Amino acid sequence: MKKQYVSSFTRNREKVDDKFAVKFKKPPTAYRGGGKPGKWFELRLADRTGEITAKFWGRNDQETEKLYNGISKGGVVHVTGEIQEYPPGSGKFSVSIDALKGGLKKCERTEYDLEDFVASTKKDTGKMLDEIKGIMSALGNEHLRKLGVAFLTDEKFITAFRKAPAAMEYHQNYVGGLLEHTLNVIKISNNLCDMHPELDRDLVLTGAFLHDVGKVKEFDVTGGIIDVSHEGMLVGHMTIGYEIVSGKIKKIQGFPKTLALKVLHMILSHHGKPEYGATKRPQLPEAVAVHYADECDAKIDLFLRLKREANTEDSWIWNKKINGHVYLK
Ligand SMILES: [Fe+2]
Ligand SMILES: [Fe+2]
Repeated sequence: MKKQYVSSFTRNREKVDDKFAVKFKKPPTAYRGGGKPGKWFELRLADRTGEITAKFWGRNDQETEKLYNGISKGGVVHVTGEIQEYPPGSGKFSVSIDALKGGLKKCERTEYDLEDFVASTKKDTGKMLDEIKGIMSALGNEHLRKLGVAFLTDEKFITAFRKAPAAMEYHQNYVGGLLEHTLNVIKISNNLCDMHPELDRDLVLTGAFLHDVGKVKEFDVTGGIIDVSHEGMLVGHMTIGYEIVSGKIKKIQGFPKTLALKVLHMILSHHGKPEYGATKRPQLPEAVAVHYADECDAKIDLFLRLKREANTEDSWIWNKKINGHVYLK
C-alpha cells in the first residue's frame, strides 16, 4: 500500500519515498551543474490521484544509461527524492532525484498493488455484469438473445470487459468504467423504449450493450497505467467492435442478414457524426436512441467529474473537451 500520492504533494522540499508508475520517459541528455558534468533524464510519474514530472540527475553516465534502459513505460519505480516548486510560489511541483542523495529502483509486479496506480469503479462489477446478463438473456428475439449470450459466456471477453475503462480522459476513465457506462446506456435506452413503444426494444438493447465492445481492445491496462493500445490508436473501437460483433454473428446459424446489418450499423453510427468518428450517421430510430443514450451518459459523467475535480474558488471553469464552461456553484 502506498503512503504518498501525487495529489498530496503541496510543499517545496518535501521528501519523496514511494512507488509511482511510469507514464512516459525521455532519453538522457548531458547537463553541466555544480562544476560537474553528467546526464539527466525526465520521467512522467503517475498514480491513481494524478501525474507529476520527475527529473533524475545522474553522476555516472554509464549507470544513468543503464538505469534509464531498465525502466519501462507502464512499469512501477520506487522513487527517493524531493519535491521542487518552480518557479517558487507557483504551485508547480516536480520531483528531483539526485543520484547522490536518492535514487530510482524498478519494482517487480509482486511489490505493488495495481489499485494504488489505476483508479477503479466504485460499483460492484459482478452485480453490474449480472444485471446485463439478466437483460440480454431475456430478449424475445432469438437471434439477438443468442448474440448477447455469445458475448456474456465468452470468458476471455468478460475478463477484458470487466477491466476496460470507457475512455482515457473523456468519461468513466477507470478500470470497470466500460462496464459501468454500458449498463447506464442500456438503462437509458430501455427508458427511451418505454417512452417510444414503436422502437424495437430488443434491437435497441443489443445496440446499447454492444456499441462500445471494441473498447476491450482499444486500451491497455497491463502495467501501472491505462494507455491506448496500438489497435485502438490505428483502428479505433468502432471498427474493432464491428469486427468482433461480425465474428460472433457469423457463428450464429440463420442470423438474418438485415438484422445483422442493423446491429453493425448501430455500432458504426453510435458517435452520431463523421467528425466524431462515426462511419455512418444513425439511419434507424433505434440507432438514434443508442447514439443519444451514449452521449447522454458520457457527457453527464464528464460534467460531474469536471465539477468534482475543479480546484478553484471561481464560479466557472472553462474546459477544452467540452469547449465551454461548467458552472460550479
Ligand atoms: Fe464509442
Ligand atoms: Fe459509449
